[in-house]
Amino acid sequence: MAKYNDLDIANWKNYNEIYTDTLWLIDKRDNSGMHSGSYHGNFIPQIPYQLFKRYTKKNDWVLDPFAGSGTSLIEAKYLGRNGIGIELLEEIAIQAKNRIPKEINPDNKIEIYIDDSRTFNLNKVLQNFKIRNVQFVIFHPPYWNIIKFSEDKRDLSNANSIEEFLFGFGKVIDNACGVLEKNRYCAIVIGDMYLNSEIVPLGFKCMNLFLDRGYKLKAIIVKNFEETKGKLNQKQIWRYRALASDFYIFKHEYIMVFKKVK
Ligand SMILES: C[S@@+](CC[C@H](N)C(=O)[O-])C[C@H]1O[C@@H](n2cnc3c(N)ncnc32)[C@H](O)[C@@H]1O
Repeated sequence: MAKYNDLDIANWKNYNEIYTDTLWLIDKRDNSGMHSGSYHGNFIPQIPYQLFKRYTKKNDWVLDPFAGSGTSLIEAKYLGRNGIGIELLEEIAIQAKNRIPKEINPDNKIEIYIDDSRTFNLNKVLQNFKIRNVQFVIFHPPYWNIIKFSEDKRDLSNANSIEEFLFGFGKVIDNACGVLEKNRYCAIVIGDMYLNSEIVPLGFKCMNLFLDRGYKLKAIIVKNFEETKGKLNQKQIWRYRALASDFYIFKHEYIMVFKKVK
């Protein structure tokens, strides 16, 4: 079997910190190193940490087409991986660009480009770095319009309909996974949403975009979702509304892992 990580299976009992089951209950954000955690809509560093440990080797290249505050790129550098990020929001991308060089492993290269992930010319960037492929892609798109990240029409959170969002996200998959090495992996972090008193299973709709393109589904992980910044009384209001009505409050999101087999 081709090696796609640095785990020494002879010492498998020493990897207590690596999750192998599909329920990730994480109560505290890892705020070590250069992580800031202040960007609304970021994810916790433990997600890229777990994925990079399982699916990448030292000095591999990871790609994050929705880089945001750079959580995955900071984690990539911390773990001795190289990284390419794409982010539409200039201000956020610049903040990330300033923080990343302060993380350990100065020899690993990390670059963030301010652009549209649907159309950004990745081959040109790969040529500049003298590489042919990346070895992992991590997708953390907007959960359609749950959080509006900008007024920019190219921002997927401004899609006018779920269909337009999925079409745009499909373009990002094609562009990013176009440079993913065959037999390597990508993952999406995504949640579901409510619209007009009904669940929109956004996670599964996004999963189908990968399946329709021939990627192999390797994991559906359920991760708890703790609104750490949420105020207690707001939680109480939602609990009241849920009890008084017919819905449940989302407390999970998905991490889905795929393998590129063709
Ligand atoms: C959920 S956030 C990612 C957060 C990131 N994982 C972090 O920890 O900071 C999604 C990001 O995608 C960006 N975005 C939306 N549409 C985009 C597009 N077409 N091209 C590039 N970035 C886009 C948004 O500006 C936002 O920062």
